[in-house]
Amino acid sequence: MDAIVLLKDDHKTVEKLFKEFEKAGAGAHKHKRDIADKVIEELTVHTWIEEKVFYPAAREAAPDTKDHVLESVEEHHVVLWMLSELAGLDPRDERFDAKMTVLMENVRHHVEEEEKDWFPEVHKAMGRNRLTELGEQMQAARGEAPRDPLKVPSARE
Ligand SMILES: [Fe+2]
Ligand SMILES: [Fe+2]
Repeated sequence: MDAIVLLKDDHKTVEKLFKEFEKAGAGAHKHKRDIADKVIEELTVHTWIEEKVFYPAAREAAPDTKDHVLESVEEHHVVLWMLSELAGLDPRDERFDAKMTVLMENVRHHVEEEEKDWFPEVHKAMGRNRLTELGEQMQAARGEAPRDPLKVPSARE
């Protein structure tokens, strides 16, 4: 599968979970905990495969995207720390919904920048074969991805 199609599919999966969270009632603690756990898993794996495979390849193929990639890594850093805080937060805690809301704002902003500001440049710079090859590498990297958000490289950098 094309690397950019794969990443956009992940973005859609996460957006669906966000919508589900927003629809859940104030008292749906268990449901919201389950959704948050899925978000943590999805985004940990997603940021991992981006940082391990896609971002370095993007910088190589389209050097002009360097600043965008660096900004994206800083955004991952913030998101990953929020995910690690959410992992240990009781859904009944008054800060739980607020933390999820700010996480969703951060991720939506980040996804929009990836999809609109710099993925198209990378797409242009890479041929179809390279994109397919990277897609395969990312599929393989999913299996090695950690479950702890703080194990993704940008969390510690
Ligand atoms: Fe990203
Ligand atoms: Fe992404």
